[in-house]
Amino acid sequence: MKDDNSKQPKVDIPKVWSCNEWDPLEEVIVGSTEGAIVPMWDDVSVQATTPAHARWFFEKYGGQPFPAEMIEKANQELDGLCKVLTDLGVIVRRPDAMDFSNEYKTPWWSSRGLYSAMPRDIFLVVADTIIEAPMAWRNRYFESFAFRNLIQEYFKAGAKWLTAPKSSMAGDFYRNDYSPEVPYINGEKQFVISENQIAFDAADFVRFGKDILVQKSNVTNAMGIEWVRRHLGPEFNIHEVEFGDEHPMHIDTTIVPLCPGKLLINPSWVKKKDLPDLFKDWEIIEAPEPVMPYDSALYFSSDWLTMNFLSVDDKHIIVEENEKPLIELLEKHGFKTIPIPFRNFYPFGGSMHCATTDIRRRGKLEKYF
Ligand code: NVA
Repeated sequence: MKDDNSKQPKVDIPKVWSCNEWDPLEEVIVGSTEGAIVPMWDDVSVQATTPAHARWFFEKYGGQPFPAEMIEKANQELDGLCKVLTDLGVIVRRPDAMDFSNEYKTPWWSSRGLYSAMPRDIFLVVADTIIEAPMAWRNRYFESFAFRNLIQEYFKAGAKWLTAPKSSMAGDFYRNDYSPEVPYINGEKQFVISENQIAFDAADFVRFGKDILVQKSNVTNAMGIEWVRRHLGPEFNIHEVEFGDEHPMHIDTTIVPLCPGKLLINPSWVKKKDLPDLFKDWEIIEAPEPVMPYDSALYFSSDWLTMNFLSVDDKHIIVEENEKPLIELLEKHGFKTIPIPFRNFYPFGGSMHCATTDIRRRGKLEKYF
């Protein structure tokens, strides 16, 4: 894909630099739904986090492209997001086109790809380091290659680039005894992936400067978290958290920092008393119920995509235009919202936070706790 913006950055910080979710955004990658392929329902890792009401969609289209009309409408909304960002002076970069319909084979299994819609899932930028996640879905094994030219460009410009070891994703990596109907056993949360190889998606991490919160999930295991902890080293504190999402995959509809001292929580999964002590002096704001009904048009996610917005800085937030209660709440707390249409992107499993990954936010690497 062509980039929407060929402006050269005014760089007096490293070309890749982002330490949190709220510093002023200067450069961002925005994903694409072009060529997106529907996963197969019989994939246990897909079943683990996919709403039961969406099963028909996977059974009907699994292994085939998403319906053309869905792709077109979602891409129009992505283009709209790019325009808003560009108008705000943010440099927008896009992935390369990739044929996700090609079947690929490893020594253990074969699969088709998924899409390049959600760069947040793959890349975790911590200060000047891009961490490329190993992922845990077979259909995402090669997804990072849609972004490879961009990441190489950032590497040439001085960024550090870590690629975590990929799991084989062979049969024993997934737990045959896992059932989405039994999310807890003896009070312990259950996941479809095992602990026998490293796995994580970048979107299970949320950055607060030198403190980073992470959840174990159906795509992120303890070994994956330990890999990130060791590679980031003693300057960073990686805090493992657990909340009430029974089928967790990606933390960015569970807790969302708005600025230093203000945290938005999903009240259906997060109770204030269960937050780590870190937040004892923070204002905790409960998100309102989503406006969009939890219905069959959400194929990969909960309706809490409403919280999956993108902060341009610590005062301006791009939000989905229909989420009026959320917009009112954010405005009441002193934020300016920039509402845009984005509902046609939801069926692909995310909103603007998932659809983007920060490359550069102007600010310092700090402690906020
Ligand atoms: N799995 C979470 C995050 C999606 C971006 C949800 O469904 O809300």
